[in-house]
Amino acid sequence: MDTHAATSSGPKQADQIPADLLANIDEAVTHYPVSKRSASLPLLHLWQNHFGFIDASGVNWIASRLDLEPINILELVTFYPWFRQEAPGKTIIRVCRTLSCALAGSYDVREKFCKAAGIDPSVSGHHHGPPVSPDGKYSVEFVECLASCGSAPVVLVNNDLHEDVTEADIPNILNQYAS
Ligand code: FES
Repeated sequence: MDTHAATSSGPKQADQIPADLLANIDEAVTHYPVSKRSASLPLLHLWQNHFGFIDASGVNWIASRLDLEPINILELVTFYPWFRQEAPGKTIIRVCRTLSCALAGSYDVREKFCKAAGIDPSVSGHHHGPPVSPDGKYSVEFVECLASCGSAPVVLVNNDLHEDVTEADIPNILNQYAS
């Protein structure tokens, strides 16, 4: 993730599109000369990778860029759990909840991460974004299989994969990303 310059209550993301993001969007659209609509998901990924989430102005901007209606983009944002409409924490903790990890205790691991970060574990967040710790440092969410089932339970912290995670590992993992 490049930046969290925009927040859900801050300036509109569409007013802050940097040149490199714009260039990447223009390039991505060229891959779909027959149907620009097919560029919807690539553009949403580019947008969220930059801003951390997709606000209403982002939905409208992407729709306009692809000659679509905003609902055509919003329905993707609300369908795919990966996309979020609110800002996550500075460090994003994604706990796998698919079978191998669930059997190895990932539901407990998520709850312990939440409690250690000061997050109410009963709040799932889902499409509006994962629950964020009061200090804004962490957000914790469930994700599906992270493709490392043999070392369950697995947790993705930002872009780092942590395997065989136990409750005892959690303070050390949080400390690694505390600054
Ligand atoms: S089930 Fe968790 S990594 Fe595959």
